[in-house]
Amino acid sequence: MSMVSKGKGIKVKVTILPEKREILLPVGENLLITLRKKGLNILSPCNGAGTCGQCKVRFEQDAPTPTEGDRRFLNSQEIEDGWRLSCLHEVEGGGGGSLVGQVEGEAAIYLVAQAGELETKAQVDSFLEEGDVDPGVSAHFLELSPPGRDDQRADLLRLRERLEQELMVPLPVLKRLPSILRNNEFSLTVIKAEKEILNLLPNDHSDEIYGVAIDIGTTTLACYLFELVGGRQLAVAAGSNPQSAFGADVISRIGHVREQGEEGSEELRRLVVDALNELITRMAREVGIKRDAVYKVTVVGNPTMLHLFLGIDTSAIDHSPYVPVIQNGLTLRAEEVGLAVSPFARVETLPAISAYVGSDIVAGMLYADMRTKDTIELLLDIGTNGEVVLTVGSRMFSCSTAAGPAFEGASISQGMSALNGAIHRVTVEDGELSCSVIGGKEARGSCGSGLLDAVAVLREIGLIDNSGRLCRTEYPLSSQIEGEGTKARFLLSDGVYLNQKDIREFQLAKGAIRAGIEVMLEHASIDSADIDRILVGGAFGSSLSSLSLLRTGLLPSIDAERIIS
Ligand code: FES
Repeated sequence: MSMVSKGKGIKVKVTILPEKREILLPVGENLLITLRKKGLNILSPCNGAGTCGQCKVRFEQDAPTPTEGDRRFLNSQEIEDGWRLSCLHEVEGGGGGSLVGQVEGEAAIYLVAQAGELETKAQVDSFLEEGDVDPGVSAHFLELSPPGRDDQRADLLRLRERLEQELMVPLPVLKRLPSILRNNEFSLTVIKAEKEILNLLPNDHSDEIYGVAIDIGTTTLACYLFELVGGRQLAVAAGSNPQSAFGADVISRIGHVREQGEEGSEELRRLVVDALNELITRMAREVGIKRDAVYKVTVVGNPTMLHLFLGIDTSAIDHSPYVPVIQNGLTLRAEEVGLAVSPFARVETLPAISAYVGSDIVAGMLYADMRTKDTIELLLDIGTNGEVVLTVGSRMFSCSTAAGPAFEGASISQGMSALNGAIHRVTVEDGELSCSVIGGKEARGSCGSGLLDAVAVLREIGLIDNSGRLCRTEYPLSSQIEGEGTKARFLLSDGVYLNQKDIREFQLAKGAIRAGIEVMLEHASIDSADIDRILVGGAFGSSLSSLSLLRTGLLPSIDAERIIS
């Protein structure tokens, strides 16, 4: 793809490796943006600002001249091998190859890791106990008496008289009623929610209705499949939120919608709905059920995520007075939102508290039963948008904090999401440093929990002083510190460093969350020593070590046993 010509309408044929997919890219467009438009999700937490170093692609030949930004994030071997940051390059024409109409030149690009394709390390185990569940959807097996000369009631009347007179029926479902009745000796299963029939099935399927719970995180999507009769959890699936290709935080995504208008909003909506459908399909396949036997879906997420999931305008959320379009919960039909379950399934979103305190933390509060306890509890959802809830008996306080993307790995020099290759745990024992890597392979970078642990252990052994500066001491691991001052860095694992700048980013994120906690405590006139329990929630929060949270001062000092992930 060496630079020969630029011009309106000229395209270059690019083969995407390793799957060998051929696409045409317009010459002169930003490579990251144009790859995204072709549906390729490149990791790009800084949304093309050139500050995260994660949008790497490898040119098989004729790699463009490396920019200063490439040299900042890529080592000389990677530069030589053809790796470049896609956001820092334009599509260039020429470079050999045949001319096909307006197509000039060919290139092959290897994509390192596409967001949404890798399994995340999200902790998505269910803590739900089986038992009395009222999902609001029920299934009823009915054996109706067949009509005769002395019983000429209409089919629908016959059905309604066994259930409720007022039951509404969607027309497509009603149209199937006569054949279901007559082909199955008038026995059928009626699936209903409140006063509406959702579906009719021949014979007895009253045990075969399912529900899905979805948490749309800014970074991670988590889905759970349940039996609606009894509430047993059947499967769990998690994946990256592919909207991350448009920025790690909600503000970048709102900015994308503002710039691109309805098209941008639809693009983000489609990405997240497609990814959720993949997770639902995976769970259904795993347990051998049909997706259209799912009749109830409950969705939580921060307000921006829910707006984007529903394709609702986000433009008033990111500036004063920070007004969302929706705050209460909604009840919708699956076909309206595009989920691959029964088209008649009920989709419910939970209410949010404000434009930045979302239904995800509301779900956490419900789960932890925070309203009904006579204790002092703090619930944290640690992420780019950190949310904090404090309950003092029946009083409740909440706030959100702009922690920034450090915990998602975006503003960290070798930071990454909790994907394969991320260091997620760092320990020091008898002077030996050990790093656990997701997927057990070679480390590619560090995710939020790895960053937290690294700062915590280096602080503990004195290689980070109390101002956050990397400093050499007598400790044997001191030799792993290279450079001086702002250029100092600590070698965590082959080729993966914790830089001085990363520690400063961590301090900013930690400071924001801790400040949120302190403000809430002050507001409620509570001393941290009085807190009975700290609950750390969210897919990311649940992988954090309590000890590291305390050692770094992210949490106020309380007994580690009182911290629950
Ligand atoms: S450096 Fe390219 S997207 Fe962040």
